[in-house]
Amino acid sequence: MEEAKKTMLSGIKPSGDLTLGSYLGAIKNWAARAEEYDCYYFMADLHAITVRQNPADLRRRTLEQLAQYIACGLDPEKNTLFIQSHVHQHAELGWVLNCYAMFGELSRMTQFKDKSAKNADNINGGLFTYPCLMAADILLYQPDYVPVGDDQRQHVELCHAIARRFNGVYGDVFKLPEPYIPKVGARIMSLSDPTSKMSKSEEENGGTVLLMDTPETIARLFKRAVTDSETFVHYDPARKPGVSNLMTIYSAVTGKSYDKIEAEFAGQGYGVFKPAVGEAVIETLRPIREEASRLMKDKAYLEGVYRAGAEKASHIAEKTLRKVYKKVGFVAR
Ligand code: TRP
Repeated sequence: MEEAKKTMLSGIKPSGDLTLGSYLGAIKNWAARAEEYDCYYFMADLHAITVRQNPADLRRRTLEQLAQYIACGLDPEKNTLFIQSHVHQHAELGWVLNCYAMFGELSRMTQFKDKSAKNADNINGGLFTYPCLMAADILLYQPDYVPVGDDQRQHVELCHAIARRFNGVYGDVFKLPEPYIPKVGARIMSLSDPTSKMSKSEEENGGTVLLMDTPETIARLFKRAVTDSETFVHYDPARKPGVSNLMTIYSAVTGKSYDKIEAEFAGQGYGVFKPAVGEAVIETLRPIREEASRLMKDKAYLEGVYRAGAEKASHIAEKTLRKVYKKVGFVAR
């Protein structure tokens, strides 16, 4: 039975605080999968340093992220939760894969172009070869699916290309993973600019709800959410991006369909709709925030979780790495 389980793997960079978007778009969907799949989730701290980080903040956020994953329902008994830098095989396979990724391919990555434009004073090698490390993260565990946001699809495709190239030379070493992009909640947009993704960078504009935000903050952000000059609640992402985004959020936290939401708010303006979405989000996030705060005070527990996670992950990862080292011609230790 155990062997029949399919494997899933994903990572989140601890470079920014988790948002409502990361919860609804990713983590919430992960929690429900533990029974069906063998799941690996990690804090991608190696990836985080491609952009300069304050060391104390990075350390704190990595632990906070683990506490938040668990508070979101990822049971450490059923999921393998670990910190990327604790499993040295990631960096090692990342190096090997660097040698099987082409300059041209890496240059075409839109995230690299975006990030280089935003960090013009720090366009470092790590930023450029980021997809090779990400490919290593994935291929070490031979997962069937890789749940990611739409913005990571290109990286998973490049991982595919690298794996295919490697397999072409050495035989079937890597299993080719599929991106797994959930339909609802895949893209939660900014509350202040519903045409860009809800993200850390939208935070200063009041567009981003953080997982740890207080009820007061959440209520304020939803009251101020950008809508349109009409007055009715209707799902039409092209014409009514703000309202549609709020509907997506409301649907994700209440489980109600768009039709049902339209009926619920028929004849009522945004003055009723926006606070109602805020309230629903507050009630969804309240238990998560409380549990994450409690776990953050229990460092011994968190340490137990990430140590056990790294041990299990590294056992699997080592098998793949050993095979790769042998194939490329390294002398066995
Ligand atoms: N690059 C991903 C992001 O920025 C995070 C990530 C790193 C990842 N390694 C991964 C996601 C492996 C899935 C699989 O969101």
